[in-house]
Amino acid sequence: MTNLPDTKLPDTQLSDSVVANANEPRGMDDVHKNEEFDVEINGTLGKPFVDNAKMSSRKCDVFYGDKQAIFDVNIDIAQNEILAMIGPSGCGKSTYLRVLNRMNDTIPICRVTGEHKLDGEDIYAKEMDPVLLRARVGMVFQKPNPFPKSIYDNVAYGAKLHGLTNNRSELDDLVEKSLTRAGLWKEVKDDLQKPGTGLSGGQQQRLCIARTIAVDPEVILMDEPTSALDPIATALIEELMTELSAKYTIAIVTHSMQQAARVSNRTAYFHLGKLVEVNDTDKIFTTPEHQLTENYITGRFG
Ligand SMILES: Nc1ncnc2c1ncn2[C@@H]1O[C@H](COP(=O)(O)OP(=O)(O)OP(=O)(O)O)[C@@H](O)[C@H]1O
Ligand SMILES: [Mg+2]
Repeated sequence: MTNLPDTKLPDTQLSDSVVANANEPRGMDDVHKNEEFDVEINGTLGKPFVDNAKMSSRKCDVFYGDKQAIFDVNIDIAQNEILAMIGPSGCGKSTYLRVLNRMNDTIPICRVTGEHKLDGEDIYAKEMDPVLLRARVGMVFQKPNPFPKSIYDNVAYGAKLHGLTNNRSELDDLVEKSLTRAGLWKEVKDDLQKPGTGLSGGQQQRLCIARTIAVDPEVILMDEPTSALDPIATALIEELMTELSAKYTIAIVTHSMQQAARVSNRTAYFHLGKLVEVNDTDKIFTTPEHQLTENYITGRFG
């Protein structure tokens, strides 16, 4: 067993099992068995804040009905960085990602508190239009979700909605440019009128990325964008992310630590709704500060 830091019994914000464990005998075997729960999460370790924040959250809590899913998350996402979010299933990664473009607004029982900014602007302000916000902060989901429309119309959709082009020829250019940047143009240029749903999974995901970048967002949120893809399609999307980060800020949720290590600049580790640690990706994967982060990256939890 690695050296455990000086620990206290956890507070009641952790799960029921933790509270139950708190009353159990504390022999070494028990400490070993329960070590993933035996460490207090008290604030966020590492470097959650940056000088050049594109987005930021302060005192973020999220509730589904009475159940709290996110506890006091404070973090910045830097301009042009790729931030990876990792952590065990159910720890709140998708919930927090959806805070950043108000996708949680679409879940009636979901309530988000705290302060959330894009370029210093309050994204939960009354005058902020969530539809426009989602054009500025685009999202790519785990399961590719092309609209039941042609490849062309999938990519042109947002530009038409927001009136970004003046005529057909400008729209054609935008569709070509977006598909090219998503690495899909060569594969689909002769099939633009075919349905987007007829493409392979990896192509569909690149189509969804093309659709997202066609409206020229500032931030792209990706929730396990490659978990349904084979290694070749995954590699293409990872390359694409690196290229896109020259222009955009990217936050990606992933269950693949190799992926986080390959693509991200900083990595954020979530545990039971709390943000345990954020730091440069190299540091998180070589010398994490928190025992829970170490447990997770060494495969002892989650
Ligand atoms: N629509 C919802 N209604 C009620 N509870 C929800 C909803 N979505 C998420 N939750 C709860 O919020 C908590 C965090 O879930 P979330 O989906 O954010 O986790 P996650 O880290 O993305 O997990 P995974 O890795 O499995 O995708 C979980 O306890 C989950 O059950
Ligand atoms: Mg999720």
